[in-house]
Amino acid sequence: MSKNLHINSNRLIQRLMEMAQIGATPRGGVCRVALSNADKAGRDLFVGWCQAAGCTVNVDQVGNIFARRPGTRDDLLPVLTGSHLDSQPTGGKYDGAFGVLAALEVIETLNDEQVETSYPIEIVSWTNEEGARFAPGLTGSGVFVGEFDLDQALSLTDKDGHTFGEELKRIGYAGETTPGQQSYHAAIELHIEQGPVLEAENITIGVVRGIQGMQWYDIILEGQEAHAGTTPMDQRHDPMLGAIRVMQRIFTLNQKFAPDGRVTFGDVQIHPGSRNTVPGRVIVTLDFRHPQAAVLDQVDRQVRSIVEQECRSADIQGQVKQIWYMPPVFFAEECIKAVQSAANRLNCSSKSMISGAGHDAMYLAKVTPTGMIFVPCKDGLSHNELEYTAPEDLVDGCNVLLYTVLELANS
Ligand code: GLV
Ligand code: MN
Ligand code: MN
Repeated sequence: MSKNLHINSNRLIQRLMEMAQIGATPRGGVCRVALSNADKAGRDLFVGWCQAAGCTVNVDQVGNIFARRPGTRDDLLPVLTGSHLDSQPTGGKYDGAFGVLAALEVIETLNDEQVETSYPIEIVSWTNEEGARFAPGLTGSGVFVGEFDLDQALSLTDKDGHTFGEELKRIGYAGETTPGQQSYHAAIELHIEQGPVLEAENITIGVVRGIQGMQWYDIILEGQEAHAGTTPMDQRHDPMLGAIRVMQRIFTLNQKFAPDGRVTFGDVQIHPGSRNTVPGRVIVTLDFRHPQAAVLDQVDRQVRSIVEQECRSADIQGQVKQIWYMPPVFFAEECIKAVQSAANRLNCSSKSMISGAGHDAMYLAKVTPTGMIFVPCKDGLSHNELEYTAPEDLVDGCNVLLYTVLELANS
């Protein structure tokens, strides 16, 4: 590491902006939900760039894309770096795409400067990180580490009844490699913080030491469809009444865990969805997060008891389905140190922190020494079309990734 390497800032930013054209929304964000036509177009663009950079591209059976730059010692396990190219329906330009394109920029820089590493380097773009269309999220990395079966992932279904497997084939990314075949020396994911901490403290680099726990539920409430005009209020079996009370009580419950507890009801499906019919079924999604596993367990028990009580009171049926559970994750010391020393070497201000958002690095950490790097984002806003990170922060983050990867790929 004798050379004073620096990434090509223009190339990084231009590629991010070109990727953001795919699925661009009128408010300046992107809609590139997993396995959509836009996801395919984003993947194609990325694969073309990787091939032009001399990488060998491989796609596995769950659609994860890997692009490898050889090391001087190909008997050594590769260092993995990347993130995801899928987005929320009203997502921003940076969530995921930044980590993937910064990984590519690291390889381009090493190529330009003819720097070899002992260990190979692989870029990854994981399938369906967001879980917005097919739940749960982190599907590609989850299958990769053996957390989900491949068949379980391929049979996930979206709201329109399309399966993950059919859609993966349709977009041409059902590869042949068995997920998880390759082991890695280390894994590093660069991402925008998606929260307000770094910006508020005027710090450039978050040295991420772990990720808080999260659990997802479908709360399914069933009553009886009935006429809106004729059915007396006291003769209804209205799942909407139950849903409102359940949501209110879970918000109140969460106050006990302030300021760390996070409750989100992001999607409510009402069947049949007609304004003059009392609904027969309401499905409410719940996303709950907290840094302590004991709190996740306590909330799990309480949610079940709240649903039971409110269903009895509204005379409806209820079911609580936990569809995802991720305990808090702690990253590997060697990766945390490599990120910290890269930030120090580049004179970037830095802070040790826990991630509020979920990332593929959560699953990778089960099988590989893993770490993450954060950069600030404006107003802490993410999962929003207005998501923004200043170019100088993107560039600093990418340089920190470069030096982190160099250290891990030579030691
Ligand atoms: C990932 O986008 C998450 O929901 O944290
Ligand atoms: Mn992300
Ligand atoms: Mn996201």
